Amino acid sequence: MAGWLWRDFIRKRAWWLAVALVLMTIEGAMLGAFSFLIQPLFDDVLIAGRAELVVWVGLAMAAVILLRGAARLSNRIITAHLAKKTRAEMQEHVLAHLLRLDLGFYQNHSPGHLIERVQGDSQAVHALLRGLITGVGRDGASLIGLLAVALYMDWLWTLIAVIGIPMLVMPMLALQRRIRAKSAQARRNAAEVSNRLDEVFHGISTIQLTGTEARESGRFHQVVEKHRRAATRTVIAQDAAPTVMDVAAALGFAMVITYGGMQIIDGDRTVGQFMAFFTAITLMFEPVRKLSALAAQWQNILASAERVYELLQIQPHITSPAPPHAPVPGRAACDIDIRGVHFAYGREPVLRGLDLRAEAGQTTAIVGPSGAGKTTVFALLARMVRPQEGQVLIGGQDTAQMDLAALRGLFSVVSQDTALFDDSIRDNILMGRPDVPDAELRAACEAAHVTEFTDQLPEGLDTRAGPRGSALSGGQRQRVAIARAILRDAPILLLDEATSALDARSEALVQAALERLAKGRTTLVIAHRLATVRKADRILVMDHGQVVETGTHAELLALGAHFARLHALQFADG
Ligand SMILES: Nc1ncnc2c1ncn2[C@@H]1O[C@H](COP(=O)(O)OP(=O)(O)O)[C@@H](O)[C@H]1O
Ligand SMILES: [Mg+2]
Repeated sequence: MAGWLWRDFIRKRAWWLAVALVLMTIEGAMLGAFSFLIQPLFDDVLIAGRAELVVWVGLAMAAVILLRGAARLSNRIITAHLAKKTRAEMQEHVLAHLLRLDLGFYQNHSPGHLIERVQGDSQAVHALLRGLITGVGRDGASLIGLLAVALYMDWLWTLIAVIGIPMLVMPMLALQRRIRAKSAQARRNAAEVSNRLDEVFHGISTIQLTGTEARESGRFHQVVEKHRRAATRTVIAQDAAPTVMDVAAALGFAMVITYGGMQIIDGDRTVGQFMAFFTAITLMFEPVRKLSALAAQWQNILASAERVYELLQIQPHITSPAPPHAPVPGRAACDIDIRGVHFAYGREPVLRGLDLRAEAGQTTAIVGPSGAGKTTVFALLARMVRPQEGQVLIGGQDTAQMDLAALRGLFSVVSQDTALFDDSIRDNILMGRPDVPDAELRAACEAAHVTEFTDQLPEGLDTRAGPRGSALSGGQRQRVAIARAILRDAPILLLDEATSALDARSEALVQAALERLAKGRTTLVIAHRLATVRKADRILVMDHGQVVETGTHAELLALGAHFARLHALQFADG
């Protein structure tokens, strides 16, 4: 588990890590040096009364403390850079990985869970580096140095002092298992908390309109409460580890003071030796506590690291095939041919042996009841989903054999719910084409009737769209999406109820712009309002994941079946 962390994130900084460790070792070793100086302080200066040495011992102690401080500060600086850089890198790495995963993955992993992993779990690496460096370096070196001084002063005293430690092995191991389990649970619960927050903030108007604020507060309380419980247990278990050490230390202390005290009174040992030994043992407390806490923290880190690792192991199913790739057809040759496609998101089949053709350069409309699978056809074309059976051909070439980016480059899509980002309206329109000349941008904005509302705004196209485009109305968002599609200038145009959010007048205007845009392109239009598809070259009627009728508007009406029924319903509705 620690292997991949090392390989992917830490190894490249191994030199700095080594420098930090050396500095830490100096910091730690100075504690040993300090306690060592206690003996001459007592035996030679205080008890023997050699006044000429007092300055030197004082200076030596000051030097030791200063050196320790300098080593500590430079190490802190290096460690801070190292840990923060590694964390940032890991976050970027995880996001880059997530960006490649299939749509299907996102249906099973809520935004809150994913945010928690990118944010919270990457914290583990941070903790790992800091804990490792300070633990192994400083606390390890302190411990070894102090132990050496203690042994040098009296090995038997030392043995007596640490005699209780082996008894602690079993309880410590049990404690660690518990910490690991609790901390994994706390991480899962943290994800639930993020998830609730994400849903609440995105659904805020629905919550307020349905008057369910209290219910949301209650649900939030529950997940927070769950998280609190698991997190508290983790902390308590973690803090229990050093306390277990204390028990052993208290035992050792009592025995050493009794035994050592007797020896000094009998004149077998000097006061200086005892004081130096005692200082060393006392100073050992802190590193031992820290190290035992680190062992516990390590479990915590592993729980997080494992989650990130699992995430990184998930591979996208939809990727570019190995070369040679099928050629991407030219602009004039983009006829679409879907053959015998079966597809299901979950268990329930959505497309059931779908056959669908759309001629290059023509406008083909797809109509049918909601849930018929129309939007899924668009996802299929751009390989956002993979058919379980059947083929999708564009220009006679199998799309599964094309380079994925090149394939997706064939499409301009305007859908019911195009995502806008919290950038300026201009940036939202320019997405993926930042180098468009101003005149072209202006023309696209006019054609999509974006200027109609941006001209009213004090900051015009530089107005921010708000989180998820929330500063714009549904109709305005749709017009931004249309301007984006116009600029993208791709050979195939996919319009999924692209004008559904517009009022009748804007719809007529934008419709005209879209018809101009559709000229010379292979266009697929999904529309609810049958009036908008009257001019299509051909109309396909979909029902239950199949094309059930094909023809022109007039032909389908004359057929007197599905289409005629849909048509009659709409006229009855008015
Ligand atoms: N992301 C999804 N996950 C699971 N089921 C989905 C998803 N998208 C659509 N469906 C299901 O697939 C069926 C067809 O959906 P869709 O293609 O959006 O229909 P249409 O656009 O014709 O209204 C529906 O029954 C819907 O519940
Ligand atoms: Mg749809």
